[in-house]
Amino acid sequence: MAQPSPPSATPHRRFLDPFKGIVASPPPIWLMRQAGRYLPEYRATRTQAGGFLDLCYNPALAAEVTLQPIRRYGFDAAILFADILLVPDALGQPLRFAEGEGPLLDPIRSTADLSRLKPEATRSKYDLVAETVARLRQDLPAETALIGFCGAPWTVATYMVEGRGSKDQAAARLWAYRDREGFGRLIDILVETSIVYLCGQVKAGADVLQIFDTWAGSLPDDEFDRWVVEPTRRIVEGVKDHYPDVPVIGFPRGAGGSALWYVSETGVDGIGCDTAMPPYMMGEAFDDENVVVQGNLDPLLLVTGGEALEERTREILERMQGKRFIFNLGHGIVPETPPENVARLVEIVRGG
Ligand code: CP3
Repeated sequence: MAQPSPPSATPHRRFLDPFKGIVASPPPIWLMRQAGRYLPEYRATRTQAGGFLDLCYNPALAAEVTLQPIRRYGFDAAILFADILLVPDALGQPLRFAEGEGPLLDPIRSTADLSRLKPEATRSKYDLVAETVARLRQDLPAETALIGFCGAPWTVATYMVEGRGSKDQAAARLWAYRDREGFGRLIDILVETSIVYLCGQVKAGADVLQIFDTWAGSLPDDEFDRWVVEPTRRIVEGVKDHYPDVPVIGFPRGAGGSALWYVSETGVDGIGCDTAMPPYMMGEAFDDENVVVQGNLDPLLLVTGGEALEERTREILERMQGKRFIFNLGHGIVPETPPENVARLVEIVRGG
């Protein structure tokens, strides 16, 4: 007869199995932006907090919205509720979110502007995020893994330089092409502070880290190497100097064929694939790399639901059978998503 585990035993977090070389069946599942506006309870908590940034810096309420999708769907992992742009905010480039406009910052366009950034002043805001992580590790079910994250330096820099979201990341690309050294100083600041930020999250209880490089696809090959691969490699190395066993997932969105190079050069333990990566490629391209593959359902299929959602989900599952795989979307959940479609997706992935 099976003995109940003693309370002191390390709980089994099946999300971590693929990183230990174990093929998990069914694959673990979480979804990018699993906490957010598509959930009525998220909207209520955000109103209670007073706004999006107030929510991010309120450990009790940030922990609450992190838990909401876990209660509803029982995902194998929770992702810390925060934002990649808290890093520039903590550095002294104040972030605001105007209704319907997305993030706004006073742009940093030159080496002279870099003096506005104060890495030594980040502590109080990073500590609030670490407190959210610590609360979560207490409040989450023991078998649910906790993912910490940051934005990759390139993607964070695109917002810092443009001062807002942009279609083509032109301001950052122009600075990078025109003045490699000056732009490199901004990237260096982001590499250093991201290591501190991520180590703080692991120390507080994060089991896994993800580095979001949403705009990795906007750079040609040698620039991709310089501004995407190299800074990510330094962050992975910097974190692993302190926490050698913490798995790191990279998400170089839009990297296409360069994703292979990214995996071999950065030292990430997992590769997040975007919507455009064909499942056969996800299933085969990384076979020779010692890496966990994550992805890549189109978030819009979660809006439509129905037959199209079922078919594509089953295709991905079939292609990834027998692989070290984590089911996810190819980008974040959109606000128009009916919550019941998310429930259906989880059911399909778990064999229903
Ligand atoms: O559930 C989770 O995934 C965890 C929390 C999380 C958020 N943003 C919450 C959020 C994470 C991991 C992010 C990452 C993030 N933030 C990225 C990288 C991933 C991606 O989606 O490409 C980027 C580029 C950002 C920057 C950002 N934050 C933008 C451009 C916007 C505005 C667009 C939008 O979706 O509203 C945000 C706001 C934001 N971040 C919201 C949430 C839930 C919506 C804010 C609201 O409540 O109004």
